[in-house]
Amino acid sequence: MSWQSFPKVELHLHLEGGAPAPFIAGLAAEKHIDIAGIFDERGGYVYRDFYHFLKVYEAACTVLTGPEEFYRLTLAVLEESAKHGVVYSECFLSPDFCGGRDVAAWRDYLAAIKAAADQAERRMGITLRGIVTCIRHFGPDKARETALCAAETMGDFLTGFGMAGAELVGKPGDFAWSFDMAREAGLRLTCHAGEWGGPEMVADTLRDLRPERIGHGVNAIRDLALVDRLAEQGTVLEVCPGSNVFLGAATRTWKGHPIERLRERGVKVTVSTDDPPFFGITMTSDYENLERTFGWDEEVFASVNKVALDAAFCDGATKERIAKRLEATR
Ligand code: ADE
Ligand code: ZN
Repeated sequence: MSWQSFPKVELHLHLEGGAPAPFIAGLAAEKHIDIAGIFDERGGYVYRDFYHFLKVYEAACTVLTGPEEFYRLTLAVLEESAKHGVVYSECFLSPDFCGGRDVAAWRDYLAAIKAAADQAERRMGITLRGIVTCIRHFGPDKARETALCAAETMGDFLTGFGMAGAELVGKPGDFAWSFDMAREAGLRLTCHAGEWGGPEMVADTLRDLRPERIGHGVNAIRDLALVDRLAEQGTVLEVCPGSNVFLGAATRTWKGHPIERLRERGVKVTVSTDDPPFFGITMTSDYENLERTFGWDEEVFASVNKVALDAAFCDGATKERIAKRLEATR
């Protein structure tokens, strides 16, 4: 079966990480910014490892100089997602790359992203919600400013707060103030953990930051007591298998990926692509690999999408609307 048109819910996609390489190269040419070193001879992104990936990612962001660029980026990303059957997407948005965490500037960037999302919903039938994300290796002080941006702009569109970046830098507790302030403002919480860190990083993150979802979380598999706790508590994992295999987080092979072992043990797993053009993947290719490797069929994919929709940070009316689409178009 072709999985491309199968209706999908994606909870873990970095907006800048969804930027097609030709889109970034085009903006660089328009603005005479020299970032040629981040592309290979075929025009794709090139980097050596995860830390170099973060550098290349940040270099790509230097051409996204204002709200207009983010308007165009959002349309380009949603067009690609819609092409692969995504009907509902939650994207990580980073005030660090949108006006340097200045609240007034951030409002303008967010308005542009929202305008593009409205346009995409009308044109392509895809619904977007935003999760403001601080960047761990930028440190706790910048995370506070980011949390303030999130708290000031939360609402129907901006519904969550989270943290990405280099997981092995600092401790989860260093960011407790930011997560507490976001929680108090009414934002829903998620945090990258257990992508590069071990099970103890997942446990510390749950204890100190109290997110309801974990980004990745795949290294939890190394501690089955923790896996059982995740299952009991109903913690949702935003698993990004294609990203993990490409970057070598937890595994370098599809066969070795823990998503099926986590699911079989009762953990709520979902499927997302993280930064698809950086890894040469799509939601369709991830579904194909999951079918080929673990024999996932329509029933499994439908249940995984239901888990994702239940865990989505949007309001109930939006969930009901998306649920109908998952049912109707299958
Ligand atoms: N930012 C973008 N992609 C990321 C990833 N896979 N892990 C942590 N931070 C990220
Ligand atoms: Zn991520």
